[in-house]
Amino acid sequence: MTSGTAQGFWWGVGVRDWAAIQEGQVRELYDDVLARIGAPAGLRVLDVGCGSGLFCRLAADKGAQVWGLDAAAPLLDLARERVPEASFALGDMERLPYPGTVFDLVTGMNSFHYADDHRRALREARRVTVPGGRLVVATWGPPETCEASAYLTALSRLLPPLPDGGGGGPFALSGGLAALAENAGWTPEEVRDVTCVWRYADLAEAQRGLLAGGPSSTRALREIGWDRAAEVVADTIAPFRVVDGGYRLRNVFRYLVATNDLRKG
Ligand SMILES: C[S@@+](CC[C@H](N)C(=O)[O-])C[C@H]1O[C@@H](n2cnc3c(N)ncnc32)[C@H](O)[C@@H]1O
Repeated sequence: MTSGTAQGFWWGVGVRDWAAIQEGQVRELYDDVLARIGAPAGLRVLDVGCGSGLFCRLAADKGAQVWGLDAAAPLLDLARERVPEASFALGDMERLPYPGTVFDLVTGMNSFHYADDHRRALREARRVTVPGGRLVVATWGPPETCEASAYLTALSRLLPPLPDGGGGGPFALSGGLAALAENAGWTPEEVRDVTCVWRYADLAEAQRGLLAGGPSSTRALREIGWDRAAEVVADTIAPFRVVDGGYRLRNVFRYLVATNDLRKG
């Protein structure tokens, strides 16, 4: 079983809540990446682990030609509705279904950390990128900079360990992004941190958003059921409740920009 098979299953539940509540919580990250990269008209962009397609939508709005790949078919259905002009494919980031040297930019917004073999996924990204093209790998900052790490840790403690590989996880690439990319043949340009404030109107919305998909949430829902998992979320986000009854969680996301240097062959 590849990471895509397991991840496709874990990310294929709760997709409406994911798209409605959770996906937009990293909008500051997307905006920062697009401002940094520019995405000029006609740029051929592949978004790996595109989910329900918000980043694809924003890149297409800038004039980019967009492709999206994800392991979860239900998320891709939403992405197709949202970005009808893009081309979406169901597949695995560790074995991309594209010929070599076709994209100017490959992005992975909080997705590459789920590969069983991160280096293989970044080498695949390089294979499909034109010489001089670029890579953006966005991931979570270190756990101590992410208020959402408390609920993920609490859920994980209630679950049996993941089988071999296990898909890495949100914090697997928080350190060493540049070294990993270099090891996969890329030339790192820059690493940037962006703080995203996750906002929920009330506890019910926070529970739906925070349990809308991914290895920890989906496994928790199967192992301990909605009520217990929702209780864990309520307990761990209690410190982030604000006066109007809503919740605000500050999370740092970190992204690397790298180039496919011609001289590296
Ligand atoms: C945290 S979500 C991020 C989705 C989207 N990029 C966003 O920013 O909302 C991670 C995504 O990576 C996808 N994914 C995880 N492992 C994958 C793999 N091996 N191949 C393709 N997609 C994968 C999941 O299905 C999921 O949509």
